[in-house]
Amino acid sequence: MARPLQHALRISTSSPEQTRTLGRKLAHLLAPGDLVCLRGDLGAGKTTLVQGIAEGLETDQPATSPSFTLLHQHQGRLLLHHLDLYRLGPADLADIGVEDLIGGEGVVVVEWAERLPPALAGDRLDIAIEFDPACDEVRHFHLSGRGARAGLLLDQLREENDAHPGD
Ligand SMILES: Nc1ncnc2c1ncn2[C@@H]1O[C@H](COP(=O)(O)OP(=O)(O)OP(=O)(O)O)[C@@H](O)[C@H]1O
Ligand SMILES: [Mg+2]
Repeated sequence: MARPLQHALRISTSSPEQTRTLGRKLAHLLAPGDLVCLRGDLGAGKTTLVQGIAEGLETDQPATSPSFTLLHQHQGRLLLHHLDLYRLGPADLADIGVEDLIGGEGVVVVEWAERLPPALAGDRLDIAIEFDPACDEVRHFHLSGRGARAGLLLDQLREENDAHPGD
């Protein structure tokens, strides 16, 4: 298995709108087959980030919290497979055919990605979201990943974020 990338990136936001903006920036860089793994406690901002990704992909429907549905799919510039594994049961992943979605024609974004079996999470962009201990609306996004594709995405996102930090 590839080693974790060294060139990790940290981006902080101070409102839900800024988090959606980060999602839109990421969406513009995504390509078919990309896997984005999100980690972070309840209410950290995973779905908010996915809403921005959906906006950036110009999907037909906005992203929502999947609640009891493990998988939501939205057609945009690319097909977005939005998975929320919070309530994952033993047979669920096989039932929805996750193996075929990952690395397929669309992009796969996973909330509670720590519940994805390691065998399914190969090359990927990892985003861990942390609450700021001092400030309610501040979130810290730690981006890293595995594989050459994640390295490229991180480089492009860093460039984009340096050029347009606030928008
Ligand atoms: N900087 C921020 N970025 C994102 N959300 C923020 C921020 N500041 C405050 N919030 C609020 O935090 C909440 C984040 O909710 P969200 O559903 O995105 O979290 P989640 O990580 O998907 O939670 P869950 O684990 O329940 O799925 C929202 O109510 C949002 O308004
Ligand atoms: Mg969520």
